[in-house]
Amino acid sequence: MASIRHLISIDDLDDADLYALVARGAEYSAGSVGPLAPLAGDIVGVYFGKTSTRTRTAFSSGALRLGAQIIAYGPNDLQLNTGETSEDTGRVMSRMLDVLVARTAGDPAEMRAWADQDRMAVINAMSADEHPTQALTDLTTLRRQFDRVEGLRVLYVGEGNNTASALSLALTRFPGVELALRTPQGYGLASYYRERAAEQALAYGTVFSERHDMEELPADVDVVYTTRWQTTGTSKPDPDWRTVFAPFQVTRALWRTSPKAVFMHDLPAHRGDEVTADVLDGPMSIAFAQAENKMHSAMAVLEWCRM
Ligand code: CP
Repeated sequence: MASIRHLISIDDLDDADLYALVARGAEYSAGSVGPLAPLAGDIVGVYFGKTSTRTRTAFSSGALRLGAQIIAYGPNDLQLNTGETSEDTGRVMSRMLDVLVARTAGDPAEMRAWADQDRMAVINAMSADEHPTQALTDLTTLRRQFDRVEGLRVLYVGEGNNTASALSLALTRFPGVELALRTPQGYGLASYYRERAAEQALAYGTVFSERHDMEELPADVDVVYTTRWQTTGTSKPDPDWRTVFAPFQVTRALWRTSPKAVFMHDLPAHRGDEVTADVLDGPMSIAFAQAENKMHSAMAVLEWCRM
């Protein structure tokens, strides 16, 4: 019987697993993995309690390509809605599924409860605090684009949301990386992720910083990254939030000081909000290759969690 491994946070991965998952995702992306069916005979549950285009399709398509069969659950399908506990849900599903890929609006405790069994791997396809499979996708994309992650200089502009949290945890473990976050005041990284990224920067020889303005931006960065202003379409309670976010729109002006930078976006995008159309659809953009890499990275994760 295959063993199982859970991926609920980037913190769950040791360095060897993190580097191997990025490398394997890049191999799938490059088309250099032969036809394999490591999940043949497996049943993968795909539960999305929140909307998704990329991640749900990536894990569904990836699981099918690896030989598994899938069962899909939408937001209204599980008895979680009627009061069944997370612990009981995990215990029951683990007797019938080999892997559960899940997106929830909740905190990691719910997924940890599902993972409290030894039969079914649990993969976090985005929770309120962290989006670990997005970070693996992003690093896979960097590896494909630059043939390395180490030493890259990344400017992240936008909300310190679950994408930024996972990206900070992952990137600061690649020596020589410089990660500069510019997040609107009041919308920065949660303290756990900011402190953990700063600790890792010291331990791994990386540079990590976060500021809440767009002054003194680093020049000659390799990557400019942004994210949707309303993560998962959730509206913000502050009626003036757009005024706070407006200076953080990514425009072509950023390329005056970083002419060779590529542009990345986790998508979905709102042209005219977080990024102008001429950047997202321009020659610097690798956002749609990045979206495709969600599937290649998902295949690496599915294969890994059943090794
Ligand atoms: N980036 C991302 O997670 O996209 P979806 O919400 O469409 O899955």
